[in-house]
Amino acid sequence: MERFVRGLPKTELHIHIEGTLEARMMFDLARRNGVALPYGSVEEVEAAYAFADLQSFLDIYYQSAAVLRTEEDFADLMSAYLARAVDDGVRHAEVFFDPQTHTERGVDIGTVIRGFVSAQDDAAPDITSTLILCFLRHLPAEAAVDTLEAARPHLRHIQGVGLDSGEKGNPPELFAEPYRLAVEAGLIPVAHAGEEGPAGYIRSALDVLGARRVDHGVRAWDDPELVERLARERVPLTMCPLSNQRLQVFPDLGLHPLKRFMDAGVLVTVNSDDPAYFGGYVGDNYLAIAEALELTRADMVRLARNSVEASFLPEDRKATLQDEISAYVRSHPASL
Ligand code: HPA
Ligand code: ZN
Repeated sequence: MERFVRGLPKTELHIHIEGTLEARMMFDLARRNGVALPYGSVEEVEAAYAFADLQSFLDIYYQSAAVLRTEEDFADLMSAYLARAVDDGVRHAEVFFDPQTHTERGVDIGTVIRGFVSAQDDAAPDITSTLILCFLRHLPAEAAVDTLEAARPHLRHIQGVGLDSGEKGNPPELFAEPYRLAVEAGLIPVAHAGEEGPAGYIRSALDVLGARRVDHGVRAWDDPELVERLARERVPLTMCPLSNQRLQVFPDLGLHPLKRFMDAGVLVTVNSDDPAYFGGYVGDNYLAIAEALELTRADMVRLARNSVEASFLPEDRKATLQDEISAYVRSHPASL
């Protein structure tokens, strides 16, 4: 199963580039930029990654991002992620970034975007990728509008707009205005909803923000009518099993609802969220949920096909990737 999953062509649709900062690179960049870190060793870092909930993770995640300062740093971060994704069979990635995490520290948004784009250009065509600009929901909507304005000169490099950070008490509807402006500027709306927050946040992500995909969305399971709607309207959910486990959303992966959503006809995908913090890249997430829920090879193929369908790729590239999956399955007959 492991070899089959690693080679299976797929896309990745829920990946925060800041969440791919491995401890090793964090130390290297800290040295390169003269930034002090609260850790003395990789072992100390790993010990700090015992998270009680989303917020306890975010506190460390935003702090660690302080080592990223120059265009070269952002390029190195993106290059390292794309290389690892290629090893996991990822043919296309739609990558979240959090401009406010960097602009609040005085880093110019152009530095951030130019770094990412140079690495993305270098990695293509082995892996193609796009950027999704995320608003931090613990900050006010006015700050999100300012972020969009700062990004305007770079919008040709940005495909979508997203919403992340602490969910509880920060419902999607607070961001109606920045989303309206972002969509008017041509960005495709997605949003994190129903990770720690209630199913109602998923409804407002759809109805108020017009989200075309919901990131996580696991709490939809509490609302059977919403599950039916997600299935009927083919709204993709970008799920992240190891993230849910490490942030105590589903500490026992055996209780994760991913397969129940699949059986209900929902377009579920598997992704890694913040792999440097949660113990695995996208292939590891496929394998972890397969083991926990006793998923089959056919389920793995379904999840890979879903990842292509749920992407924002043009229809002709989607068809090419679906054909690639068919050819891969044919050339890897199941050993019974
Ligand atoms: N949820 C919300 N914000 C985030 C996450 C997440 O899983 N990862 C990075 N920022
Ligand atoms: Zn996320």
